[in-house]
Amino acid sequence: MNWIVEPARRLSGAVVVPGDKSISHRAVLLASIADGESVVTGLADGEDVASSVAAMRALGVEVDHDGTDVRILGRGLDGLRSADQPIDCGNSGTTMRLLAGLLAGQGFTSTLTGDASLLRRPMRRVAEPLLAMGASVQSSRDGTAPLEITGAGRLRAITFRPEVASAQVKSCVLLAGLYADGPTTVAESAITRDHTERLLAAMGAEVSTVADGGGARVTIEPGPRLGVIGGRVPGDTSAAAYWLVGATLLEGSRLLLPGVGLNPTRAAIVDLLVDWGADVVIERVDDWCGEPVVNLRIRGVGAALTGGAIDPDMVPGLIDELPLIAALGASTTDGVEIRGAAELRAKESDRIATTAAALRALGVDVDEYPDGLAVAGGQTLGSGSVDAAGDHRIGLAMAAVALAARGPVTIENAETMAVSYPGFATALESVVER
Ligand code: S3P
Repeated sequence: MNWIVEPARRLSGAVVVPGDKSISHRAVLLASIADGESVVTGLADGEDVASSVAAMRALGVEVDHDGTDVRILGRGLDGLRSADQPIDCGNSGTTMRLLAGLLAGQGFTSTLTGDASLLRRPMRRVAEPLLAMGASVQSSRDGTAPLEITGAGRLRAITFRPEVASAQVKSCVLLAGLYADGPTTVAESAITRDHTERLLAAMGAEVSTVADGGGARVTIEPGPRLGVIGGRVPGDTSAAAYWLVGATLLEGSRLLLPGVGLNPTRAAIVDLLVDWGADVVIERVDDWCGEPVVNLRIRGVGAALTGGAIDPDMVPGLIDELPLIAALGASTTDGVEIRGAAELRAKESDRIATTAAALRALGVDVDEYPDGLAVAGGQTLGSGSVDAAGDHRIGLAMAAVALAARGPVTIENAETMAVSYPGFATALESVVER
């Protein structure tokens, strides 16, 4: 599907962003192994979280899922039952990696598979710690899915130091740790999003975090049971980022984003934009299972942000926003340089290559490095066609900056945006002035 984004004068009004995708996955998985019924509203409505819902149903969990409302009858830590077919995680790395941890603690064998993109992504990073904990995990020779996981029932507690700072890997090991014979620790070299820890703590698990250099040591005690959850999932910080950038780039915009999650491990995008000159007012309104919830009020400033360097230590906190930041770079005064971000090549697409290709297609000068990219400032995006390349974040990032392009921008293969944000085009029509 091609979607044509026309240039905009400004954005005004309010957009309710979808529920946070990372938090929604965790809510679905953890409510499934809680003791009792959880009723959650505002769940992310994209295809990725639907993959987690389908996976838990395949494992015997009763889930009523109606758009963004979900009722989950938790079966307790040991109540899942074997799926009669391979579990299809679709495009969702979070579903596959977190579920791998959960399945390592079950007394049966499961197979996890996914779409062509997911079958290319690295899974050794979760297989290795789970093997060390005593589960059996088979992958392809390249260390990719399908994964066949035979749980060990009771796992060995370990201390694990992931090579790559990854919330998915950390969460996988923490979920397996619920089934271990003692405290399990993940020692991460850099801080990654901590939604799993916050939700587990809110459900009564014993989980603790201590700072360790630039990273953290997170420890979980096994079981014995998780309590239910309720309420409304905070809005997605990464979905809000597209609006933050789109509205900022259009002088005169006035946009309200109510109910957005602003967990400190995800807030770097807002701090960065404000540092670079964006006008964003943050108003704390709520708290959900330990997650801060805010209203964001944005006033457009035009192509006036300074831009700057994204250094390696900033990468984990901005990981999903890096294509958007690179795309924004063209409209900044000093440009943007991102380094230490080789991990971007292992996402839904090779995001260094796909971001560079999309920007070049609009006439932007981009330097590509093995671990990042540099986009010179002072450039206006031209009219043209860009390929979302099977990657929702590429389509969404390019749509956001296309609002300030010289002419219409066609997003090819735009259907991929439904992985995280099916309602983006409709929401845009409700706030755009041309
Ligand atoms: C996610 C963690 C990040 C992020 C992904 C969602 C999560 O991946 O890129 O979109 O929900 O834990 P890594 O932790 O592997 O970097």
